Amino acid sequence: MGFFKLTIRDVPIDNHIVLVRADYNVPLDKDGKISDDLRIKANLPTLKYLHDHGCKIVVISHLGRPEGRDPKYSLEQVAVRLSKLMDHHVEFVDDCIGDRVTQTIKKSGAHSITLLENLRYYKEEEADDEAFAKNIAKSTGARYFVQDGFGVVHRAHASTHAITLCIPSVAGLLLEREYETITGAMQHPQRPLVAIMGGAKISDKIAVIERFVHVADNIIIGGAMANTFLAYKGVEMGASMLESDQTDTLDRIYHAAHEKVGDEVDTFIILPQDVAVAKEIAPKATRRSVGLETIESDDIALDIGDRTIEHIVATVAKAKTVIWNGTLGYAELPEFAHGSARLALALATQPQTASIIGGGDTADFVLKWDNNGGKSFTHVSTGGGASLELMAGDTLPGIESLLDARK
Ligand code: ADP
Ligand code: 3PG
Ligand code: MG
Repeated sequence: MGFFKLTIRDVPIDNHIVLVRADYNVPLDKDGKISDDLRIKANLPTLKYLHDHGCKIVVISHLGRPEGRDPKYSLEQVAVRLSKLMDHHVEFVDDCIGDRVTQTIKKSGAHSITLLENLRYYKEEEADDEAFAKNIAKSTGARYFVQDGFGVVHRAHASTHAITLCIPSVAGLLLEREYETITGAMQHPQRPLVAIMGGAKISDKIAVIERFVHVADNIIIGGAMANTFLAYKGVEMGASMLESDQTDTLDRIYHAAHEKVGDEVDTFIILPQDVAVAKEIAPKATRRSVGLETIESDDIALDIGDRTIEHIVATVAKAKTVIWNGTLGYAELPEFAHGSARLALALATQPQTASIIGGGDTADFVLKWDNNGGKSFTHVSTGGGASLELMAGDTLPGIESLLDARK
């Protein structure tokens, strides 16, 4: 089953000016420096392919959500990092349209790489403004547009949609890999497929949970999301973070699960049997693993409990595919990262199980845990919202707008 869009391999791209949309929306530390470069590294195969084919490469991206030209969100430091990773000079231009862009590209030769300044310095970017897209096309003189910013293809912006109306547009290798890995696991998984959902809110992820009810063999729920499930089941959750307005959603989820597995619902959707609580969310807070019936009114459930961790590890041991989205606890604090860390360890030590990890915070967590660019896992997605929407089965505007592959 091939990808349904044309990619850079399918078009005579050699020696042309090629405009590449990357998602270099990298996390920044408190000093404003790049704290993780997965998104830059993930885009390298596409750039190397174009480089080897003699293209003049022009890369565009956004960074953060700036209000106008805020220097905190300049892509200049990304150009420096990219240059190291490509082992090739990357020219940075402090604008993404206009004469300086045109002149720089004109002067550059085959194999050159130019990175343009943050697209979101212009409000026209998020407005999907066609005149702005035309201006990018004209300023760069690009012959092809390559979409490789997987993390942003759920947005219909000038650089993901309007631009495709101006230049013949194909997919890059990262976009193709993300799409094939995620949709492949959702549509034709090696079974058993265990879906693990955690993180902050059910309301962010309803469509994905509902899809997993249909496609997964087990669904494991952790994180603050589990608090909401447990409260729905009548457990007193003390001072834990939860959503009390999700009764209709949970009714729907349990109804669909019941249709699928009958009385096995509570072995199909696995909720924590114990939780790790603290009296406050603070680095010095100590973890207490407690049964569900002993949660006190001022307890905050911040992680899955120790028995639950063992149960999850045992369930995952039988899986052939695991899709994980959402940390299983308040993983920013090590005391409450036990659940997520034990799950990461289980996945890393059973390489025969395909492990697909999506979600901004979950990816950040496993990358720090692994400290090796996520190599311990089959696939760490570069997309947050985009990977969730793809898992939910939505069509993504930044993919739809590319040229169709011939049937
Ligand atoms: P992702 O970005 O991977 O999709 P989310 O944004 O949904 O994940 O959730 C991650 C956030 O959920 C983290 O900030 C984490 O601290 C928070 N979280 C997880 N479990 C809990 C909990 N029990 N109580 C409070 N916050 C939690
Ligand atoms: C992301 O980090 O999810 C993408 O880069 C999109 O960024 P946005 O949520 O600001 O549109
Ligand atoms: Mg998040």
